Amino acid sequence: MQTLVTYLARFDGVSCEGCVTAIKRKIGEMESTTLLDTDIQGSSILSSAFDAERISDELSSFQGCCESCQIKIDTIEETKLTKFENVDSYALIKTQYKTALDRAINGIEVACSEHCVCKTTDVDRFKDETPSFATLYNLAELLEISDGMTVVDFGCGTGHDLFELNKKHSGLNLIGVDVTDSMIAFAQEMNDKIGGKNFSFIVGRDFREVEDESVDLVYLNNVFNIILDKSKFLKDAFQVLKAGGKLIIADEFTEEAIPDKLKNDPEFQCGGIAGALSVHSLRQMSKSAGFSNLKTSKVRDYQISYEGIDYNFQTGVVSIYKMNKIH
Ligand SMILES: C[S@@+](CC[C@H](N)C(=O)[O-])C[C@H]1O[C@@H](n2cnc3c(N)ncnc32)[C@H](O)[C@@H]1O
Repeated sequence: MQTLVTYLARFDGVSCEGCVTAIKRKIGEMESTTLLDTDIQGSSILSSAFDAERISDELSSFQGCCESCQIKIDTIEETKLTKFENVDSYALIKTQYKTALDRAINGIEVACSEHCVCKTTDVDRFKDETPSFATLYNLAELLEISDGMTVVDFGCGTGHDLFELNKKHSGLNLIGVDVTDSMIAFAQEMNDKIGGKNFSFIVGRDFREVEDESVDLVYLNNVFNIILDKSKFLKDAFQVLKAGGKLIIADEFTEEAIPDKLKNDPEFQCGGIAGALSVHSLRQMSKSAGFSNLKTSKVRDYQISYEGIDYNFQTGVVSIYKMNKIH
C-alpha cells in the first residue's frame, strides 16, 4: 500500500488568476497525487505518494499561464493542514496590481496575456507620470463633470483619471479608493508633488470612509468586473450618492451567457472577461440596489472565439442614476 504524505507547496511569481488555475491543473495532472486545496495566491495543499524532492522537480517544469508569467516553486514542506482558512479574498488582486505597477514603473510592458486586465496596445501610456491600467484610460472625457462636484474614483489605481479631471475643472472634491496599497501610495506621492488640496486617497475595498449621500459621481474604470461582491458594491454606491447622483461603470460586457469553461480558462481569467456581466444582468442588479435607470454607450464591439464558437463582447460605459433618497 502506498504511504501518502500531505505537503504545503508555495510558489513565487504568481500574479494572476490564470497562474493559480495553471497550478491547480498541473497538480491535478500529477501521478499518485491529490490536490486538497489551493488558496487565492496559488499555495497548494496536496497529498502524494512521492517525496518532497520529486514533487518539487515536477512542479519546477512549468512556468504559469503564459510566457510572461514566471512561476517558480518556492518551498515544499510537510503539513498537517488539509485546507486553507481565513484567506484574504483580495490577496491575489493586490499582488497582481502591485506587480503591474512595479513593472510600469520599471518601463516593462504590463500585459501578461492578450486578455490581461492591464492589456496595453498603447505602451506609450505607461510613460506618463501617472500610468493608467485601464483600457478606457481617457474616460475623464466621458464623465460629464461640472465644477464643484464630489467624485469618487473607485479602484483609482495610480489616480490617473482624477489628476486628469483636476486639470480641466475647478473646485472638485476628488476621492480615490483602491484596495492595493502601492497604488494609493503612488497616487499620494503624485499628489504631494502637485500639492493638491482637494484629493483624498484611501486604501480600501468599500466606501467605509465616505459619508452617506455626499457624492455626485462614483465611477469605475476597468474595475467593476474585478469586484468580488458586485451586489454589495452597488448597494454601497447607492448609499454614498446624493439623490440625483450617478454611477458610471466603464468595462467589458457580455452579450450572452459565457460558459464556465471559458471563464476558468487561464488565458481569460486575467482581464475583465471572467467577471464580465451582460448589461441586462447589471440593470437587474442595480435595480435591486435602488437605482432607477441605466444608459449605455458602446465603445467597441468585439468577439472572442472559444472552441469554435464566437462570443460577443463589448467595451462600454454604463451610467446608472440614483433618482430618489435612501429608503
Ligand atoms: C485595471 S486597474 C484600473 C485602475 C484605474 N481605474 C485606471 O484607470 O488606471 C484595477 C484597479 O482596481 C483595484 N481594485 C480591484 N478590486 C477592488 C476593490 N474591490 N476595491 C477597490 N479597488 C479595487 C485594483 O487594485 C487596481 O488598482
